[in-house]
Amino acid sequence: MTVGALELPHRLAMAPMTRDRSRPDGVPTDLNRAYYRQRASMALIITEGTQPSDDGQGYMLTPGIYTEAHIAGWQEVTNAVHAAGGRIVVQLMHTGRISHPDNTPHHRQPVAPSAIQPKGAMFTPTGLQDMPTPRALTTNEVTNVVQEFRHAASAAIAAGLDGVEIHGADGYLIQQFLAGNTNERTDRYGGTIKNRIRFALEVTTAIADEIGPDRTGLRLSPGNPYNDLTEHDTHDLYPALITALAPLNLAYLHLIHAGDENLTHKLRRLWPTTLLLNRPGADLDTRITDLDTGLADVITVGTTALANPDLPHRIRTNAHLNQADPATFYGGDHHGYTDYPTLATTSV
Ligand code: PHB
Repeated sequence: MTVGALELPHRLAMAPMTRDRSRPDGVPTDLNRAYYRQRASMALIITEGTQPSDDGQGYMLTPGIYTEAHIAGWQEVTNAVHAAGGRIVVQLMHTGRISHPDNTPHHRQPVAPSAIQPKGAMFTPTGLQDMPTPRALTTNEVTNVVQEFRHAASAAIAAGLDGVEIHGADGYLIQQFLAGNTNERTDRYGGTIKNRIRFALEVTTAIADEIGPDRTGLRLSPGNPYNDLTEHDTHDLYPALITALAPLNLAYLHLIHAGDENLTHKLRRLWPTTLLLNRPGADLDTRITDLDTGLADVITVGTTALANPDLPHRIRTNAHLNQADPATFYGGDHHGYTDYPTLATTSV
């Protein structure tokens, strides 16, 4: 399967998953390297959300990709994955208002399209805390954030990553610009659909220009209310966004299926290149049906790939699957991270 500049050996890819195990300065560790290398038999690894800038960080111990130290750390990861025969793109995640000052080295107030506090609490070093009200970015600052994304994409290529996935989903910064309840701006980034999709388009265009559209993917979750998001016009918003993106000829669109079957099929028809599809919570057989029907070109799985480092081999041989342990998803050490057994280790 050809996906932009990448040749995939099959059509089962690893979805991005926050694991909160990098260094406080955002540099990936030897353990991060081992985790990704173990999963190199997936058609494509999409890394955990990785901040493109200081302000892009929302969670504890997430990696970054914007300093020389980040580049050196990621280079170790990409070398290991490539040596094991794999392909890996980094997901650029700017969390916007889904953040807490206690989770970042700089402790600054989170930034967002508008100063609207998200409902809900998040994990911090001292336990669950409410997310604070963010500060609204000025128009000039929005333009700067676009440049931060461009810089991060350039850093990703310098680190040997095979490409970049832009996180436009799940209520983080880009979707905060798209949705009505998080964007009350009165400048060119707010109000009409044309204005609310502008930030997503500018980020994507800048990255495609920097590293090539054939190494650029974008993740979207139309209609997903995750992270206190309310879109009042999903059925108009996403067709407009996807129609505007189509001429860029990106490597792929990565859709999170938020339950609306008709919308997903409609967006599939509008999208000109490869579609990666993630159906949260669906069993593997249901997901594979999406390949058989042609709805998806590639399917992505998260926790199943986390719990089964040799997942493609297990599927080919109809072997049993390990179950993921949610208690070890976020933070901690090698437990629940690099110690899930392969069939080879289980059977000797
Ligand atoms: C999370 O860390 O909980 C998280 C991160 C990114 C997502 C969804 C959830 O897209």
